[in-house]
Amino acid sequence: MKKVALTGIKPTGILHIGNYCGAIKPALELTKEYDARYFIADYHALNSIKDPKKLAANIREVAAGWLAAGLNPDAVIFYRQSSIPETFELTTMLMAFTSKGLMNRAHAYKAAVQDNTAQGDDPDAGVNMGLFTYPVLMAADIILFDSDVVPVGRDQVQHVEMAQDIAQAVNFNYKQDVLKVPQAVVQDTVAVVPGLDGRKMSKSYGNTIPLFTPEKQLRKLILRIVTNSQVVEEPKDPETSQIFLLYKLFASVEEQGALAHRYREGGMGWGEAKEELFRVVNRELTPLRNRFEAIMADPAKLDAILAQGAERARPIAAATVARFRKAAGID
Ligand code: TRP
Repeated sequence: MKKVALTGIKPTGILHIGNYCGAIKPALELTKEYDARYFIADYHALNSIKDPKKLAANIREVAAGWLAAGLNPDAVIFYRQSSIPETFELTTMLMAFTSKGLMNRAHAYKAAVQDNTAQGDDPDAGVNMGLFTYPVLMAADIILFDSDVVPVGRDQVQHVEMAQDIAQAVNFNYKQDVLKVPQAVVQDTVAVVPGLDGRKMSKSYGNTIPLFTPEKQLRKLILRIVTNSQVVEEPKDPETSQIFLLYKLFASVEEQGALAHRYREGGMGWGEAKEELFRVVNRELTPLRNRFEAIMADPAKLDAILAQGAERARPIAAATVARFRKAAGID
């Protein structure tokens, strides 16, 4: 039997090239080797997005984005967290095995408390219970599907470790392997994707290139990437160039070699390097953009895909909850 890879995608904003290279592509790569279960973590997004129109739009766009990027919903169980009521049953059960101190140490909560304290506010100002108990819901997402590996960015590793702790506490208490203990697989070592200003591409830095931006806008953004002030004639170092780092993510090995050569011999300005970068990025993203538009134009089909995913997911979830209830004596 194949091992299970599971990950949650929080629908908090539009997808950008950093998400695509750093998370989506590596997660799709894993689907070849694992039984993959990927879901839209809409209840996690509810903690921060209270505008119903915005949340609904984000859910659709992010789901369509993953499908457009190549997620095959026949091979991967692809669903919305909110379609799996067992998630919430398991969350409640896991709460009984989660110490409050563990939640106090979760980094998102700790950061909120630190910010509040620094500003002289009440330590818990603006903190809802959804944020405070975030790692328990996430542990339920993971444990529910007997996950072996959880591909996540570095910032989520602590949460997966908490899921491990909680699963182990349950197994220890009942002296049997009731729940599968998951492992994190860190994805962002695959590629640090530089943003427009040279820092890591991230929504919070406002330096992103949206994945499905129209061709014209894509070119404009790429032409805006910051460079140093080296003139055309000067030989340039590809390895320290943000443009080249991005180029490597989209170009063939031969193309990379050819552009590196152009950098080193001099006579190529940044404008020209950017045009070449635009060419390869646009080449890869054009079919994705077209698929994305087609999926967004057919909401009934998108709903059907997600419903089909939920239907396949629920029996697995129900089996885990049943196992736990039996072990716990609430059969
Ligand atoms: N917390 C994750 C994030 O912000 C999203 C997420 C929710 C998740 N549930 C999960 C990731 C379960 C992996 C497994 O990116």
